[in-house]
Amino acid sequence: MDVEALIAEGVARIESAPDTAALEQARVSLLGRKAPLVLALRDVGSLPAEERGPQGKRLNEARGRLESALEQRTATLAGAELDEQLRRARVDVTLPGTPFPRGHRHLLEQTRRDIVDVFLGLGYGVAEGPEIETVYHNFDALNHLPTHPSRAETDTFYTADDLVLRTHTSPMQVRVMEGQQPPVYVVVPGRTFRRDTWDPTHGAVFTQIEGLAVDRGLTLAHLKGTLLAFARAIFGPEREVRLRPHFFPFTEPSIEADVSCFACARDGSPCRVCHGEGWIEMLGAGMVDPNVFGFVGYDAEEFTGFAFGMGVERIAMLKHAVPDLRLFWDNDLRFLEQFG
Ligand code: DAH
Repeated sequence: MDVEALIAEGVARIESAPDTAALEQARVSLLGRKAPLVLALRDVGSLPAEERGPQGKRLNEARGRLESALEQRTATLAGAELDEQLRRARVDVTLPGTPFPRGHRHLLEQTRRDIVDVFLGLGYGVAEGPEIETVYHNFDALNHLPTHPSRAETDTFYTADDLVLRTHTSPMQVRVMEGQQPPVYVVVPGRTFRRDTWDPTHGAVFTQIEGLAVDRGLTLAHLKGTLLAFARAIFGPEREVRLRPHFFPFTEPSIEADVSCFACARDGSPCRVCHGEGWIEMLGAGMVDPNVFGFVGYDAEEFTGFAFGMGVERIAMLKHAVPDLRLFWDNDLRFLEQFG
C-alpha cells in the first residue's frame, strides 16, 4: 500500500468536499470500517514481528493526518453553512412594510370638533348637559307657550309627564345661566331627539351645537360678527353672512343666518348646494328674550345676550355635499373612508 499517495489523495478529497454530506462520504470511505487504511491497520498484528512496528507507525500517522484534515474541513464547512443560513434568514429592515390599517374620526365627530374649536378660539367655554331633560328646561323656561306645537307627543319623545328626550340643546342655555352669573360665553354640543321619520334631511336622533353669550351691551351686531367669524372658519375666508327675520320662542328678535354659497359663482346658474340662490341656510339665532332672563334671575336691564343653534349634520352635509344624513349612521366604510 502506497501510504503517501493515500494521504495525499485523502487530504485532497477532504479539502475539496463542497459540503458536510460530501465530507461524510469521504470520511466513510477513508476512515470507515471497510476503508483500506482501517483494514490495513487491523492486519498489522499478523505481520512479521520486524515489520509490525514501522508499518503500524506509518499507518497510524496516516490516520492522524486524515483525521486532522477531516476536523479542519468540518469546522470550515460548518462555519460556511452557518454563514449561508444566516444570510438567507436575514430580514431586510429597509424593505417597505405591510401598512397597518389606520382609522380616523367619523365625519360628524370631526365636524363637531371643528365647530367647537372655532368657538374655543373666540374665548367660549364648552358645556354638556343631559339628553333626558325636564319639560321645564326644554320648553317652559325657554318661553314656549303651553300650546306650543312642538310640545305634542307626536313631535317629542316623553319618558314621563315632565321628562323628554331633549328636542334641542337650547335647554342648556337655561342650565348654564342657572349655574353662573354673566358674563357667559359658552357652546354646548350634544345629541337631540325628535319624533321624525328618517328621510334625507331628518333623523330621530341628530346633533346640535348651541351657543350663548350674555354680557353688558351685546347687540345683534355682535351676533352677526360672531356668525361671520364662524362661517369663514368653517366654509372659507371669502364667505358673507346674511340675517333673515324668523321666530323662536326664546329669542327676540329671532333670525335665521345664511352663508354665501361656496360651491358656485353665485350668478344664478344651477348649483347643487344653493340651488342658484347664492345663499345657504346655516342656523337659527337671536337676542335672548328678556323672559328667559326672568326664569334664571338675570337682570334684563343690565344684561343682553345672543344665542344660536345649529345642526352638525346639516353643516357637515353642506360642507362636503353629502346628499342624505342617513349616511352618517349607516357605518358604511366606503362612505366614511372618504373623510379621513
Ligand atoms: N333650538 C332651535 C332649534 O332646534 C335652534 C335655535 C334657534 C337655537 C335660535 C338658538 C336660537 O339658540 O337662538 O330649532
